[in-house]
Amino acid sequence: MDLLDQVFLSNRSWAQGMVKNNKDYFKNLSLTQVPKYLWIGCSDSRVPETEITGSKAGEIFVHRNIANLVHDDDPSLLSVLKYAVDYLKVEHIVVCGHLNCGGVKAAFDGLEDEHLGDWIADIKSSYMSNKDDLSEIVSNTDKINRLAELSVVKQVEKLSSMKVVKDAWGRGQHLHIHGWMFDISTGELNSLKELSPEKRVWAI
Ligand code: CO
Repeated sequence: MDLLDQVFLSNRSWAQGMVKNNKDYFKNLSLTQVPKYLWIGCSDSRVPETEITGSKAGEIFVHRNIANLVHDDDPSLLSVLKYAVDYLKVEHIVVCGHLNCGGVKAAFDGLEDEHLGDWIADIKSSYMSNKDDLSEIVSNTDKINRLAELSVVKQVEKLSSMKVVKDAWGRGQHLHIHGWMFDISTGELNSLKELSPEKRVWAI
């Protein structure tokens, strides 16, 4: 059987299973969405946010791109952020990086491919500004993983200075920004950092 035929078969089987457990499942799902948080994650196929957090449809609003980067001139990210904060009123934004990230490795290796190289330039700048600390780490794998953490922290900080977030905090909206890492080798999520108007936690 063709791979994509299998996808449709799996879909029908899943849909039937959901209705079997709750006959109004899709009826209710189609009415509205009330996600509690926005997830900004990596496009990597090994980091499926719904699955690794044990969540269901309707629980997470999602934006994913290569190496979970926050660019303040990215219209896709900006529109997702605006909708999540101003309309869905999410209470949390999670930037989730992961160990063994190909995007971070490419930046570390100095990839200059058109499009990809431009996209990950921000990670190269994180590398340059942390060069001394990173030089104390022996293995390249560990260096790349540390760079991935440093980049997540930088994205959290960038989010906190974006207009949508500052406006939300200014009007007293409950909004926390978190930096997390997913360890593909153990399946565990770990928190690196949390930012909110009341709380500044530096865990890195
Ligand atoms: Co990645």
